[in-house]
Amino acid sequence: MRDLVMIFFISPLFISLSVSSAKNSFKPKEPCKHIVLYYHDILFNGTDAANATSAAATNATKLGNFNFGMLVVFDDPMTKDNHLLSRPVARAQGFYFYDMKSTYTAWFAYTLIFNSTEYKGTLNIMGADLMMMETRDFSVVGGTGDFFMARGIATIHTDTFQGDYYFRLKMDIKLYECY
Ligand SMILES: *[C@@H]1O[C@H](CO)[C@@H](O)[C@H](O)[C@H]1NC(C)=O
Ligand SMILES: *[C@@H]1O[C@H](CO)[C@@H](O)[C@H](O)[C@H]1NC(C)=O
Ligand SMILES: *[C@@H]1O[C@H](CO)[C@@H](O)[C@H](O)[C@H]1NC(C)=O
Ligand SMILES: *[C@@H]1O[C@H](CO)[C@@H](O)[C@H](O)[C@H]1NC(C)=O
Repeated sequence: MRDLVMIFFISPLFISLSVSSAKNSFKPKEPCKHIVLYYHDILFNGTDAANATSAAATNATKLGNFNFGMLVVFDDPMTKDNHLLSRPVARAQGFYFYDMKSTYTAWFAYTLIFNSTEYKGTLNIMGADLMMMETRDFSVVGGTGDFFMARGIATIHTDTFQGDYYFRLKMDIKLYECY
């Protein structure tokens, strides 16, 4: 009788241990989905309302000379090649703000909204944009629709910039969890 009780107590423990060890051994090597898109940000300069896709919602503070505290809200087109006028395949909607007083760095949080015949759904992305680095990684923290519960990494590279008012980022998005 005592042995039977022990088995009842131990076997659920054993099962849960084996489940958690199976989870820990999950090491994705190849992405299950790979998408490369270009992000175009045209900052409103006070007069180009028809063309601009983003605007400063707060001014920079006087802390340092690198726009510390300036927050930009954007609704930017995402294209498959690096031409601003190519047909957008998604929109990037969110914000970034400058967050260092000694150099240009920003923090991004946005949703990629896909509404095309190819994809319908969203990807939610956030991360630190250390602009002095050749590439930096943002986290793909979730998704909906065709990207239900997706997770992965978006590798960012500054493709070009023209002063403050236009810049283009290459976003190399690799998903490691797809459903
Ligand atoms: C804003 O940008 C537009 C288009 O590039 C340009 O024609 C205009 O002169 C700019 N305005 C200011 C205030 O810089
Ligand atoms: C930013 O500063 C300018 C000039 O000082 C001012 O006109 C404008 O209202 C400010 N904008 C915001 C969003 O605080
Ligand atoms: C997606 O595209 C369809 C067809 O063009 C349109 O009817 C629908 O309103 C769009 N949905 C969103 C959320 O933009
Ligand atoms: C819109 O902005 C882009 C990027 O700054 C610029 O190259 C283009 O000439 C602008 N177009 C108009 C019509 O102002």
